[in-house]
Amino acid sequence: MMMKKMGAWMLLALLTLVGDWCGRCYGCLEDERIALLEVKALTNPNSIYMGDWVEYSSNCCEWSGIECDNTTRRVVWLSLRRARDLSLGDWVLNASLFLPFKELQSLYLGYNGLVGCSENQGFEVLSSKLRKLEVLDLILNKFNDKSILSCFNGLSSLKSLYLSANEEITGSVDGNRLII
Ligand SMILES: *[C@@H]1O[C@H](CO)[C@@H](O)[C@H](O)[C@H]1NC(C)=O
Ligand SMILES: *[C@@H]1O[C@H](CO)[C@@H](O)[C@H](O)[C@H]1NC(C)=O
Repeated sequence: MMMKKMGAWMLLALLTLVGDWCGRCYGCLEDERIALLEVKALTNPNSIYMGDWVEYSSNCCEWSGIECDNTTRRVVWLSLRRARDLSLGDWVLNASLFLPFKELQSLYLGYNGLVGCSENQGFEVLSSKLRKLEVLDLILNKFNDKSILSCFNGLSSLKSLYLSANEEITGSVDGNRLII
């Protein structure tokens, strides 16, 4: 009798554990999913590349260009390279768009027609909140010496910043500082 009761408890505990685990192995965080849909709406609503970024798809971790942490299910890798519709013209970025991705490590924004950032909405708005952000790829955009500074006051956690083929930039990055 005692053993049976204990067995039942153990089964219950096991089911709870599996349930908890599967809640994570499926799906992604709802606020990140909503943020991704917003990114799509702002950059390329009819995108082929972001074709699977759709309202009715609940697991944003499986969408193209995205990788989630296997445990937390938060987005850690986000590639929007060539994702934007360039017929929309120049892109003045509001980096707050990426604030919901609290565990983001790598962000690829290459070839998107980026010319600069909105006032006080450069990547420094992310640096205190996105402590794991290490890689920022901005290649093949349209920054120049002046406009790139609108995006960077501080680079804190960044380890790699890619800026090649932004033809108007003559400066370089030294440690944590952008030298123009
Ligand atoms: C998640 O797990 C898969 C398969 O085990 C692995 O290939 C992938 O690199 C992992 N992703 C992360 C972000 O840890
Ligand atoms: C940038 O985005 C944030 C969050 O979406 C918003 O609150 C803010 O008004 C925007 N700023 C500009 C200059 O567009």
